Amino acid sequence: MNQITPTLRNEPEGVSINAWSSIKDTFGSPKVTRAEGVYFHDDTGKRWLDFTAQLFNVNLGHQDRRIIEAIKAQAEKLCFISPFYRNEPREELARLLATVTPGDLNTFFFMNSGTEANEAALTFARMVTGRPKVMSRYRSYHGTGLTTLGVSGDPRRGASANNFASSVKFPNPYCYRCTFKQTYPSCGVVCATSIEEQILAEGPDTIAAMIFEPITGGNGPIIAPQEYYGILRRLCDKYGILMIADEVINGFGRTGKWFAMQHYDVVPDMMTVSKGINGGVLPLGAVMMSDAIAQKFSDRSVAIGSTQTGNPLSCAAGVAAISAMIEDRVVDNAATLGVYLMRRLKELEAKHRLVGEVRGLGLLATLELVKDRATREPLVQWNAPDPLVGRIKALFNERGVQIHVRSNQIVISPPLTITEAQLEEGLKAVDEVLTILEA
Ligand SMILES: Cc1ncc(COP(=O)(O)O)c(C=O)c1O
Repeated sequence: MNQITPTLRNEPEGVSINAWSSIKDTFGSPKVTRAEGVYFHDDTGKRWLDFTAQLFNVNLGHQDRRIIEAIKAQAEKLCFISPFYRNEPREELARLLATVTPGDLNTFFFMNSGTEANEAALTFARMVTGRPKVMSRYRSYHGTGLTTLGVSGDPRRGASANNFASSVKFPNPYCYRCTFKQTYPSCGVVCATSIEEQILAEGPDTIAAMIFEPITGGNGPIIAPQEYYGILRRLCDKYGILMIADEVINGFGRTGKWFAMQHYDVVPDMMTVSKGINGGVLPLGAVMMSDAIAQKFSDRSVAIGSTQTGNPLSCAAGVAAISAMIEDRVVDNAATLGVYLMRRLKELEAKHRLVGEVRGLGLLATLELVKDRATREPLVQWNAPDPLVGRIKALFNERGVQIHVRSNQIVISPPLTITEAQLEEGLKAVDEVLTILEA
């Protein structure tokens, strides 16, 4: 690994900075040269197991031939056309999406990322309701725009937290660390019912939307109790608030169903997606809207857009990726292997005292690390810098395993095409790292 720690002065000109990184971090990161399936290779010849599908997006693994061929074929025909024209890959993708989305989420507005999809959904919610505020959860990430970072609860919101004054946060359905110090099911799902008090205090007529990740992703999988989203749906209906499910991580099979809201049998008014929509290979995001929302735009312009809205190459990749997912029964694989993964993680939980709890759904899982199982004191405080996190990451790096370490969470989210044997490779590294940490 390149250990240069450059200053701007002694570096050659033309430095490009990694996302969420400093220049120093950038030069400390591996330079990746090629990838296939669940592995990628860096320029030192080292092979890495991709135990996070990069950023939860390369759901079909790296370099799926069907996606590559679809992009090539589309590039020969039409690389780009203005978003004021229709194009065939965009329309085909919409038709295909409508076959897998829940309820009446049949109308799509394409953007280039999860951030843009959420920014668009929040704009639509405000246009449709004429209300300003947005309710969201403390442990959440919705994107890197001023509005989306503002509604995010994630520590990364630091830079713009105060730029979106109309954000109202509510607690997470986080049973292991219940805000209300209750236990499910005797709690009556108070984390959901108590939101009504907040709605009334804010004034229902001021709230446009409620946005949440059905299964919280980047902030450590948090899995809401079964009744939770039904309660939120009733509150939204009662007060005319639009429900937006951010399925940017959850969508396209990650949790063992096409969309995580299908675990709860609740249909939101809008769903936002990106990442896995085209196997994670080209920029693409979408707002999926119900017939009732779509109706509002039958004569009225959506009033926003991007030069690359519905880019033919990104959409052609989307058609190929979703077709491949259907053909290979990728969602079923995620569900089946998810059960296997949880069984194995439970074994690691039993073996390692540092593991307070393991949680997961499909191929999105976490080991939550604690100092003490009885008190549940986190091994590393949430949202506080701690060198131990760097040490844990380094131990995985030494083993050639790309994994998501976030405060006291070790998050696993491999490509959905992974095999049991490949899962075992990553779990072996988890076992070894925990053993070292405990020693
Ligand atoms: C749940 C969720 N929403 C939105 C986003 C933003 O997506 P993007 O990075 O494509 O802008 C992310 C990114 O990680 C995410 O995890």
